[in-house]
Amino acid sequence: MQGIFITFEGIEGCGKTSQAHLLSQHLEKQGYKIVMTREPGGTPISEAIREVLLSTDFMKMHPHTEVLLYLASRAQHITEVITPALQDGKIVISDRFDDSTFVYQCYVRGIDLKTVEAMNHFATGGVSPHTTFVLDVDPVEGLQRAKSRNQRHARKEDRLEREAIEFHQRVREGYLKRAREYPKRIYVIKSDRDKEAVHGEIREIVEGIVEKGKNV
Ligand SMILES: Nc1ncnc2c1ncn2[C@@H]1O[C@H](COP(=O)(O)OP(=O)(O)O)[C@@H](O)[C@H]1O
Ligand SMILES: [Mg+2]
Repeated sequence: MQGIFITFEGIEGCGKTSQAHLLSQHLEKQGYKIVMTREPGGTPISEAIREVLLSTDFMKMHPHTEVLLYLASRAQHITEVITPALQDGKIVISDRFDDSTFVYQCYVRGIDLKTVEAMNHFATGGVSPHTTFVLDVDPVEGLQRAKSRNQRHARKEDRLEREAIEFHQRVREGYLKRAREYPKRIYVIKSDRDKEAVHGEIREIVEGIVEKGKNV
């Protein structure tokens, strides 16, 4: 596969969507072909699954149901969007991907990591991100940002945003642990600064990666 697959990860309100947009705009201006997508979602089937996953109607969702829905959404996303774009040589930028599953479902909800890794491999066919940015911010600040974003867009808080602060703290720690386990792929970027400063650091790293790709 020729393309480059970049993912953004981190707790609610850390800036994933904002940074994914800033990076795609920047790379597009430089003439790269970009596919910007998100999880859960990215295809009509996956977006329908997203509705179920985030709905506050389903507060009683069993953790096994939750992981299977995320993986079902991913299987469709991979075959319909990500793999074809990478085969076409595009840069795919996804707002969340499989690190979210390992952190939320395994590190935080406690489902066995090896089992989920095997199921995830079944869903992705082995396609995985080349580079991942974990945007790191204190959950108090992240949730505050998410709350004011929701108010601005007249959007209700979703099922995961409703979780207690301790949950988000565990998610943050889960991401830092994952980053220690995959130090070559995962960059932890401090996100308690203004958007442009965060974007500048990310852009520099991505430019290095894109340049290297050109020389192979
Ligand atoms: N570095 C930042 N400093 C202050 N506010 C930010 C920053 N990054 C994003 N925001 C704002 O915080 C809110 C949440 O950001 P968003 O990109 O939607 O986060 P996520 O997708 O990770 O939940 C948005 O209103 C966004 O404009
Ligand atoms: Mg977002």
